[in-house]
Amino acid sequence: MTANQYLEMYQRSIDDPAGFWSEIAETFYWKQKWSPEEVCNENLDVTKGPIKIEWFKGGKTNICHNAVDRYVEAGDGAKIAMYWEGNEPDQDGKLTYSELLDKVCQLANYLKSVGVEKGDAVVIYLPMLMELPIAMLACARIGAVHSVVFAGFSADAIAQRITDCKPKVVITCNAVKRGQKLIPLKDIVDASLVESAKNGVTVGICLTYENQLAMKKEDTQWIAGRDVWWQDVVPNFPTRCDVEWVDAEDPLFLLYTSGSTGKPKGVLHTTGGYMVYAATTFKHAFDYKPTDIYWCTADCGWITGHSYVTYGPLLNGATVLVYEGAPNYPDPGRCWDIVDKYGVTIFYTAPTLIRSLMRDGSVYVDRYSRKSLRVLGSVGEPINPTAWRWFYNVVGDSRCPISDTWWQTETGGFMITPLPGAWPQKPGSATFPFFGVQPVIVDEKGREMTGECSGYLCIKNSWPGAFRTLYGDKDRYETTYFKPFSGYYFSGDGCRRDKDGYHWLTGRVDDVINVSGHRIGTAEVESALVSHPKCAEAAVVGIDHEVKGQGIYAFVTLVDGVPYSDDLRKSLIMAVRSQIGAFAAPDKIHWAPGLPKTRSGKIMRRILRKIASRQLDELGDTSTLADPGVVDQLISLSDS
Ligand code: WTA
Repeated sequence: MTANQYLEMYQRSIDDPAGFWSEIAETFYWKQKWSPEEVCNENLDVTKGPIKIEWFKGGKTNICHNAVDRYVEAGDGAKIAMYWEGNEPDQDGKLTYSELLDKVCQLANYLKSVGVEKGDAVVIYLPMLMELPIAMLACARIGAVHSVVFAGFSADAIAQRITDCKPKVVITCNAVKRGQKLIPLKDIVDASLVESAKNGVTVGICLTYENQLAMKKEDTQWIAGRDVWWQDVVPNFPTRCDVEWVDAEDPLFLLYTSGSTGKPKGVLHTTGGYMVYAATTFKHAFDYKPTDIYWCTADCGWITGHSYVTYGPLLNGATVLVYEGAPNYPDPGRCWDIVDKYGVTIFYTAPTLIRSLMRDGSVYVDRYSRKSLRVLGSVGEPINPTAWRWFYNVVGDSRCPISDTWWQTETGGFMITPLPGAWPQKPGSATFPFFGVQPVIVDEKGREMTGECSGYLCIKNSWPGAFRTLYGDKDRYETTYFKPFSGYYFSGDGCRRDKDGYHWLTGRVDDVINVSGHRIGTAEVESALVSHPKCAEAAVVGIDHEVKGQGIYAFVTLVDGVPYSDDLRKSLIMAVRSQIGAFAAPDKIHWAPGLPKTRSGKIMRRILRKIASRQLDELGDTSTLADPGVVDQLISLSDS
């Protein structure tokens, strides 16, 4: 796309959003069209009434039909929908669009046979097997609401989500191998079901896929009556299953994400707007062509895997690669080995992986041809210019544009992103808004700033892919996103606009830290730490981390009389691993006999951040502390 084409389309999308998006929506299959006056109903201003975002209301469609059946019916059934590459380089598989349709229908029929109906929740806890997107699509086909839980979350974290959304069925597999490590996923689910039952939520069925490459049936713990082997039942069902036509505003999925309190937020996306938005953003930001082989390294447990492994690409009839293993196994050249093996043309990943591969050295990249690559993408956190240049020059041989896509679980799809070729790139900038998106940068008081400026990133209007609420918590939805700055959606990110109008994301401005592109609430980690019987209080801050972007630095105060020791440090870290997951384990525990608090008892995180990053000459004014002495004490314990 040229800059002029972009500008023209962008202007139209802002001047006439209803016309712009209707035209695109019409290229999808709708059982019944939306009412013309209801293309978009919105109120983003809490002072004018409840927040409301609706797109294509009254329209009846099905996202699974549009992502799979539509291509089979059009005669593209023999096209590869998915390639699958396993943990070991000799493990692989593939599915055509027709085969995918058969598999989705069989599972959909099974789910119906056990009583899953439109609107029911289904929790999916699977690694990156093809069964993961198949399970998502099967739910969507029958109007069930999937909630995928990343297979790195702990039993407690799954239980918390199950308790919140009360699924009829949980879908998992017995185990997975990641690198050399065997992870018994079913055992983790078993523990979570015991936990959720204590909270009054009993799940009747645990459908378990036997992942023979990792663990045999016989070695799997089993609860007769509740547990069902996928392979025993699903293949017996017919490969045809009528779709459930749902309203554009019927829920499609729930995905839990971290916020600034301990309780994860159930971000709810609906069907029609999300479908149109995920597909359109995919198509333009990656300059998609039907011959592309597309690979996104994200796991379907995160939003990136929802919109850009499963829905966005399949809605475009693309060929997607699903990779189960670790990106550096058996060695740091694995990604480029995969790129050459399948002829990957579009490669979408996260800065943390780029930095880690960069550290391993270019030799691992140079060994492979990578000549199939055409477009690169980055997501998850701001990409530092050094990593950007390495990605561009070494991985992409200075010929592949990089789409640095800024967006969020809440936004459903890309919000600010380059479109390949449309304008000169600036390493580290997400550049300009996608069609229909009006980003604004506001100051502390919520006043829009123009020209070169820096402040809080908000969005002024609704877009089809926007989430519609936080499941069961409309108040938190309004308070978190719409009350901070009246009239706007508040992203929680800081942003700078330069003299050429490019956007530069500067990171979260709330109590969320971004570790390897994973959002983690400081409050969640703190609540896991204080659940440890020897921990009295905890305060968690983010610190710069060379590979992960941000690391987790935890200050802990112990219960009176308990001595600090290395064993205790380890068991505090274990508490976080078992309540959230290994990816949230603190990088550093700092013993704090006292924490810097104001006289009203508020912890001064500003000071803790400075101590954690050893910027001791920038502590600022400490005179307002109830006990200024704790600062020196903390500094003296820094290396304990
Ligand atoms: C950050 C992931 C800068 C940001 C899609 C956002 C980014 C949070 C970028 C959302 C990017 C994501 N540049 N920052 N290209 N992409 N972020 O919900 O802080 O897991 O608010 O969605 O990641 O994380 P989430």
